[in-house]
Amino acid sequence: MPGDSSIKAGVHREKFEVAPVSSIWLPRLVEIDSSWNPASWSVKLFERELINPASRVRGLFRGNTLVGYLCAHVVMDEAHIVSLGIDPVWRRQGGGNELLRDFLRLCRLENVLHVTLEVRVSNQAAQALYAQAGFKAAGIRKHYYSDNGEDAITMRYTVEMP
Ligand SMILES: CC(C)(COP(=O)(O)OP(=O)(O)OC[C@H]1O[C@@H](n2cnc3c(N)ncnc32)[C@H](O)[C@@H]1OP(=O)(O)O)[C@@H](O)C(=O)NCCC(=O)NCCS
Repeated sequence: MPGDSSIKAGVHREKFEVAPVSSIWLPRLVEIDSSWNPASWSVKLFERELINPASRVRGLFRGNTLVGYLCAHVVMDEAHIVSLGIDPVWRRQGGGNELLRDFLRLCRLENVLHVTLEVRVSNQAAQALYAQAGFKAAGIRKHYYSDNGEDAITMRYTVEMP
């Protein structure tokens, strides 16, 4: 199409892909997590999540690179999102949304009925992401975060079954 610079330059828009994360990505998981998490997780902690049967660790990939992850625990018909992060370079490109929607699809397949999470009251970006996906605020946990004593908003999502 005339005037479309991406075609002129021969570049085609790659998409994100979501897949389970294997242990080769442990250093990269730690790198992404430490870019935003004041209580960042160690390799050992992520390693434990990768082998925990209750854990679902989903990776967001762009080409051959891991650019984000979501970690959640599933017990019976309840799931809890324990961590979600996108490499700062790759934010605001729909990746967080894609990871979250992938996980909600997985919940449907696993007959999970409710998904919960905590988010910092100051974290407007994450709250907007969750609200857009259908999460509702369900309460406040006072002084939930030990690094600065910040309160957490608990959010809850009810999975719609077909
Ligand atoms: C929160 C986070 C995961 C969002 O990931 P992302 O890939 O940038 O998000 P997306 O591009 O998919 O955006 C989806 C929606 O989230 C919201 N959003 C994302 N970033 C936002 C920002 N900086 N400000 C306001 N809203 C934002 C918007 O509603 C956006 O929809 P829109 O693009 O139609 O406006 C990312 O900012 C991040 O990794 N933050 C640090 C880690 C973190 O806070 N994790 C959550 C812990 S509970």
